[in-house]
Amino acid sequence: MKKSKIRVNFNNMMKHRLGSYGISEMDIKNLSSKINLAIKNLKQKREDGKLGFMYLPYDTKTNEDIKKVSSIVKDRFENLLVLGIGGSALGTIALHKALKHPFYNLLPKEKRKTPKLFVIDNVDPEVANGIFDVIDIKKTLVNVITKSGETAETVAFMKIIWDKLIKQVGKNKLRDHIVITTDKTKGALRKIVNENGFISFTVPENVGGRFSVLSPVGLFPLACVDVDIDELLKGAEYMDSFVTINNVWKNPAFMSALLHYIADKKFGAKITVMMPYSNALKDISDWFAQLWAESLGKKYSNDGKIVNEGLTPVKALGATDQHSQVQLYNEGPYDKVITFIRVENFKKDEVMPHNFKEEETFSYLSGYSMADLLNIEQRATEVALTKNKRMNMTITLPEISEFTLGQLIYMLEVETAFMGELYNINAFDQPGVEAGKIATYALMGRKGYKEKLKDFNLGKEIKRYII
Ligand code: PA5
Repeated sequence: MKKSKIRVNFNNMMKHRLGSYGISEMDIKNLSSKINLAIKNLKQKREDGKLGFMYLPYDTKTNEDIKKVSSIVKDRFENLLVLGIGGSALGTIALHKALKHPFYNLLPKEKRKTPKLFVIDNVDPEVANGIFDVIDIKKTLVNVITKSGETAETVAFMKIIWDKLIKQVGKNKLRDHIVITTDKTKGALRKIVNENGFISFTVPENVGGRFSVLSPVGLFPLACVDVDIDELLKGAEYMDSFVTINNVWKNPAFMSALLHYIADKKFGAKITVMMPYSNALKDISDWFAQLWAESLGKKYSNDGKIVNEGLTPVKALGATDQHSQVQLYNEGPYDKVITFIRVENFKKDEVMPHNFKEEETFSYLSGYSMADLLNIEQRATEVALTKNKRMNMTITLPEISEFTLGQLIYMLEVETAFMGELYNINAFDQPGVEAGKIATYALMGRKGYKEKLKDFNLGKEIKRYII
């Protein structure tokens, strides 16, 4: 197991590399009482059952149920269509992309073996239309995922699919084509499950959307495409043995949170860049961006003061963004912490042949593999940033596997929760997201919400301000 452990290297955050632009051990020591309080609070919340996501790696019963259902349905369908948004979609997209073939849906069935996976996480009408050009609804299993059971985007698409399914497979076969993942008792969708006898899974009450990828929200669709969900959970469980250590110097989640916190409070580094050097991990940054932004961007502290905390997540991809964003990271404002994700061993590789021997501009590449080049480029960017006194750190994955990704996901979740404690804000609510949902309901004329329109009255629109 040890050889598959992911590692966090934060040398390039520290004073011995960055001088006065870096963090000292004294900076960390000075926060001892804050750190101890944050550790105590987090532990207490876990014991009180408030941090449901920390129980997920141990929920073997749900895991077995998921495997049972997925093993039955996955061979029956050509497509799996997931409808969900935010925390109900991003984790599945990220892990599917990380763990399966880069052109998965284009593989022939003999190679793919499991259904094509489509995740629709928007209400874009052209996507809604376009999907029916590429899937045959009669050969499709639809997994509707919404914890609240009422999110407009997800429900809107479900309504459209619902009618199409009835037309094409008949009302009595609807049940064979729909699996619903929602709250255990609350919400309109649970009612629909009960009335129609759909197969369903539960999003635990104490697991928020953006912390739910290791619940049926992510595990069911991933199991349907043969992601080894046991290994994902084992990875998370393995990481749990590190992120429960009270000593920040031995706990990668706590230390990473702490460094981001100090970078913000001491240097005003309000931007968190995640930059994997791997296309497979590109969408992990997308998943992380939601986790970080929605959990930490808060107006009020736990004691009711207006604090307007938050760090802005930025997604970058190595080496691609070396040719766009890295200029800014090297020479722009000192307002960022850049986290690289590096993969030691890629599943597949290509060695560059010894051709173009006379052309030195090309021939220096010969004999190196693509993975060599990518990892050397990561190192080069890291070295350049450090030389320019830019705070950066590197998470190394020995390889991309269910086990390492389980570790990564879980570590980042605990880091985010610990950040919430350091900032003394509630990392688990999302009043800003709810405000948008309420405004949508009000503008769409949903019953009980119309009167809320006046809360969103912005004043008159001035023509002169529109060019
Ligand atoms: O993290 C969250 O709570 C949100 O991003 C939700 O996942 C998102 O709003 C979707 O909510 P629901 O699953 O209720 O449809």
